[in-house]
Formats: sequence, C-alpha cells, structure tokens
Amino acid sequence: MIVLGIESSCDETGVALYDTQRGLLAHALHSQVAMHEEYGGVVPELASRDHIRRAIPLLEQTLRNSGLSGANAIRHAEIDAIAYTQGPGLAGALLVGASFACGLGMALDKPIIGIHHLEGHLLSPLLSSNPPEFPFIALLVSGGHTQLMHVRGVGDYVLLGETMDDAAGEAFDKSAKLLGLGYPGGPEISRMAQLGDPSVHQFPRPMLHSKDLHFSFSGLKTAVLTAVRNYGGVLSDQDKANVARGFVDAVVDVLTAKCMTALKQTGLKRLVIAGGVGANQQLRAALNAAAVKKRFQVYYPELEFCTDNGAMIAFAGALRLQANPAAASRDYSFNVRPRWPLSGTQIGQIK
Ligand code: KG4
Ligand code: ZN
Repeated sequence: MIVLGIESSCDETGVALYDTQRGLLAHALHSQVAMHEEYGGVVPELASRDHIRRAIPLLEQTLRNSGLSGANAIRHAEIDAIAYTQGPGLAGALLVGASFACGLGMALDKPIIGIHHLEGHLLSPLLSSNPPEFPFIALLVSGGHTQLMHVRGVGDYVLLGETMDDAAGEAFDKSAKLLGLGYPGGPEISRMAQLGDPSVHQFPRPMLHSKDLHFSFSGLKTAVLTAVRNYGGVLSDQDKANVARGFVDAVVDVLTAKCMTALKQTGLKRLVIAGGVGANQQLRAALNAAAVKKRFQVYYPELEFCTDNGAMIAFAGALRLQANPAAASRDYSFNVRPRWPLSGTQIGQIK
C-alpha cells in the first residue's frame, strides 16, 4: 500500500510517499522559518499563504523522486490513499493541507484519512533503522506540546502527564527571544548553552518533585527574564551563553526525571522521544546516560524527522490503514481540528 502524506499544521509544508513494503519512497519539505524570523514567531496568515504556494511544487518533487515510474498521472495511479494532518495546529494552515488532500482525493478518486499531528511525531521513531517495539513510553516535546504517553499500539495512547502551561519548545523559543537570539530558539539556545558555565545560573526545576508526570515551564521563562533584567538588559555573548546553559540544564533535568518516573510507574523499558525538542543534543546526552545507568532503551527519530515533516504523516496514515482499512473514506467534506487531544484517539474515530 502506498500512502501520500501531507503536513501543514504550522510553519513547515511537508509531502511524502510511504510504501508499506518498501518504506519511505520520497519526501520533500519547505520550512518557513526564514519568512517568520523577522517577526520573531509564526504569523498564521503568512503561514497559510505559503502552504498554498508550496503544496503543488512539493508534491511534484516527491512524485519525481519516488521511484514510481512514468509521468505524474501514472504515478498518481499507484497511490492507494492520501493522509493529511487534520489537527492540532493553526486553523488556516491546517485548512490548506486538508483542502489540498481532499481536492486531490476527489480528483484522483483516492480515499483520504485525517491524521493527528502528534500521532505522526509519536510514531516517527518507527521510521528509523532501529525501530522500537510496542509498548513504550513516549515523550512528545514540540513547540506546542509537552506530553508523556503510554503507547500500547497504533491508535492506543494513554496520556500520563502534560504541561500545565508552556510547552518545552515554547519555553526554548521564548527564552531565546529574551536573549535576543533568533527564531526558532531551540537550536540556537542549545548551541549557546554549550559555551556556557553551568555554575553561574541555577534556575528552578519546575515540578521536579511533584511526583506526578505533569510539567510547567512558564516559571522557568520568568526566571530567564529576571536574569536578563539583572544584567540591566545588556548581556555579553558569554552572559547569554551562561543563561542559555542554566536554562537548558533545567529543562533537561526536568524532562529526564519525568521520563524516569514514567518508566518506573509503568514498568516499561522502552522510551521514545519525539517532536522538535527531541533534536536537542543535551537532552539526548542526558537520556542516553540515564538509559545506560537504569538499563532501558531510548529511541529517537532520525534528526530530519524530529521536526515537522510529511513522512511521519504518510507513515501514520499507512499504519492506521493497515490496522483498519475502513479508516480512510471518500467523504471529501473535510473539517480540521486546531485543538484535538490525542489520548483516546482510537482507530476509526479519526473522521
Ligand atoms: O515538532 P516541531 O517541529 O513543531 C511543532 O509541532 O511544534 O517543534 C518545534 C519546536 C520549536 O519550539 C523549536 O525551538 C524546538 O522544537 N527545537 C529545539 C531544537 N530543534 C527544534 N529545541 C531544542 N533544541 C533543538 N535542537
Ligand atoms: Zn510538530
């Protein structure tokens, strides 16, 4: 079965073709980071318009690179279903992907399936050469979400804990902004932190000892703000690096400790990290060290599939359809779900 995947929930347009027999055939991505950078964050209207501009060229590029033979029309014929991100995300951006997928589906007479964006992230480590087996604990750390999930199988997710306020990625982005670093802040703050002195700033570890699996990152962002103010707002590069180091150490400590608690509480020995913050090298180093010490396995998506992409949507669509072929439909009256909890999303409940 060959599934076309379309991702457009935020500031990346992604298109991919996944074959359940041969694996990922091709994928293409356009990041809008450069466009949003001058505004210091994603401008939803600009995001939607750019998704419209990119969708068709990215689809053509994916088809060309897929190895499927012949001209576009013949390649289209080989696609069995079209998966698209139905939510959560920016309403306008989601609508572009949904209408593109449904329009294509109608024109080519292909069934469509709406995919939960976080399910795409959560299953993305299964695309790697060393995939985890079910069940596992998944830490989802993206720009909009921070959640711990007990993943028992495809479509079988139990929410164990989540952030009470800011997401981890959001804390990275907001703190980077306070330090005058670029957008998105995650990679930049992480790079700066490597040059920082860990003893200069001891920031709070929010909810570290709360015994539950919830998170809170807004206080940490306030601590960064206070530190910046204490410098009188004028920070040398070394000051910025020291603040970045204090911030990253605090986030990594909390994320690592909560993962340990989740593994302990469930008795599971496999941990999967998904979402943009999963690209963070300091987090990976801490989790790898904990995995050796506490004897569990930790899995990450390939770096290119940590942040948003079409491959994870095509892949999640293929897994959904393998589990339940009736999950795709030829009802092209789409609706998007900007806010949509993942927990309890059972197969067949997608539409
Ligand atoms: O999963 P993602 O691409 O989009 C959402 O679904 O939100 O995650 C984007 C988030 C941003 O907040 C970005 O700053 C963060 O992931 N991020 C990182 C790194 N790379 C991306 N955070 C920390 N370290 C990184 N290397
Ligand atoms: Zn994402």
